[in-house]
This record gives sequence, C-alpha cells and structure tokens, in this order.
Amino acid sequence: MIEVIQTISHMHQVADQLRNAGDRVGLVPTMGYLHEGHLSLITRALEDANQVVVSIFVNPTQFGPKEDLAAYPRDLDRDLDLIEKAGAKFAYVPEVEEVYPEGFATYVNVEGLTDNLCGISRPEHFKGVTTIVSKLFAAVKPHLAVFGQKDAQQVLVIQRMVRDLNFDVEVVVAPTVREADGVAKSSRNVYLTPEERQDAPALYRALQKGKALIEAGVRDPEEVVRTMRAMINATPYGQIDYVEAVDMDQLAPMSALSGQVLLAVAVYFGKARLIDNVWVEVPRKTPS
Ligand code: PAJ
Repeated sequence: MIEVIQTISHMHQVADQLRNAGDRVGLVPTMGYLHEGHLSLITRALEDANQVVVSIFVNPTQFGPKEDLAAYPRDLDRDLDLIEKAGAKFAYVPEVEEVYPEGFATYVNVEGLTDNLCGISRPEHFKGVTTIVSKLFAAVKPHLAVFGQKDAQQVLVIQRMVRDLNFDVEVVVAPTVREADGVAKSSRNVYLTPEERQDAPALYRALQKGKALIEAGVRDPEEVVRTMRAMINATPYGQIDYVEAVDMDQLAPMSALSGQVLLAVAVYFGKARLIDNVWVEVPRKTPS
C-alpha cells in the first residue's frame, strides 16, 4: 500500500525512519497529473534508491499572474494509483497553506542561468522552482532526486543550486519520454485542440533537424536557429516564444557552436505553451 504523507512533520518522521533503517531515499518531485514521463522518473529513481518518495504539489510560486495555476489539471486518486503501480511506496502531498504559511518570506534564487530562455517570458518562475525544490529537499531529506531532461533549464538551474548551496543530494537527469509522433509527454498537452495537437510534432522535428545540421558540420548557431524557426513557423497554429542554440553551461549564445550545445524551443498553441529540447555534443576541433 502507498503511504500518503500530508504534513511536513510527518514527512520528517518518515524521512528519519528511512535514513535510520539504512535506506537510500530517492525523491521524484512533480506537480501531479502524472503521465509516462513522470513514471519513468520513478523507475529511474528505483534503480539507485530502494525507497522512493513522489511529491505532488502544484507550486503557486512558480506560476506567473497570467498563467494556468487555477486551471492546472489535477487527479490525485489516479496519481496515487499510478505511483503505487510504478513501485514507489510514499507520496508526499503537502497543503499550500502549510508550505507557504502567512508571513513566508524566504526564497532561493539562482542568478544568471534564469535570465535566458524560459526566464524571459516567465521571470519569477525559476525562483519558485528553486524555492520549492529546496523545501522538498528539506522535508524529504533524499539521497538523490530525479528530474526530466524535458525541462532542461530547470535541471541546469537545480544542479547549480545544489552546487552553490552544498545540498547533499545527487541530481539525476532522466531522458524525455515522447508520444509515438515525437511530442514530449506533458501535463499541458491536454490543453491542445485536435488541430493544435496536429502541429505539435513540429517542435521535435525542428529540434532533430537542428541536431542533424550540427552533425553535418554546421557551426553557425543562426543558421541552425533560422532553419528550426522556419519549420515551426510553417505550422498554422504554433507561435514561437523562443528558438535557441546555446551553450549548456551558461545557457548563453555562442558565436560558433562547440562543446555541449542545448537546442531549445518554446511554442505557444493558443494558451498552452509547450517546450522541448535536445542536447548535442559538438566535437572540438582536433589539430590536424
Ligand atoms: P512537472 O511538470 O510535474 O514535472 C515533474 C518532473 O517530470 C520534472 O522533472 C519534469 O522534467 C519531468 N517530466 C515532465 N515531462 C517529462 C517527459 N515527457 N519525460 C521525462 N520527464 C518528464 O517540473 C515540475 O513539475 C516542477 O517544476 C517541480 C520540479 C515539481 C517543482 O515544482
């Protein structure tokens, strides 16, 4: 049976019991409405941890004033069922009022890395993410936490936070799980109309084209970005937020592509905003 933990003090108790029993504890943070992408993170966590806690918390501080906090899809009973089937024994489902009580005044903010990509259209978003992930680490005391590559900037920001604040948590990154047509699984896909859903594969197709160009020797980021933009612009419904080729360390633009490159896109379909990315390793020039 899955144990549902709803208060911070209960979570602390369970965390201490697991640690005292010598268990290796894995955390999978989520906002619920689980799909196969989330479940793959649980499977990944169970490879390196013998006890897995899945948190479900629709975190208000990471939503902008015009975003979909109230409309965010929720189905706790189904989520708990899926978590149990995936093999995790604990679900941490705290209440907003306990996580952010009156007078709450402390935030964790990673600078620089959060200015670019999603940080432009969602200026407070990552501050909300790093704050809640810090609070989840403090509540669950995990040895490791698994995050999806799907949210590449989120992973890089959390890795930086863990390094800068010396959290004793190993950050594990799991690959993006996709639909058969390449669309990355996302809780937000339910917002798409059938027509918009038909356009959605253009994101991954554009990313794959970008990757293929780089692998064929293109080193000009603008050429790669231009080609990807054209493919997304050719769809009737997709409105580009950004299409970028940046370096993986700083998420900064590059004059010539080299080393670890992140190709990342964010596209609006009506009110829904979908993101996707691929990572490309560009071989450094070897002296001939
Ligand atoms: P959420 O969007 O629910 O995603 C939870 C985790 O699932 C994240 O690590 C995300 O990258 C991963 N994920 C989502 N779609 C995926 C897919 N198709 N394949 C693989 N992994 C996928 O990300 C958040 O919640 C929140 O920001 C959170 C970290 C929980 C903080 O509130």
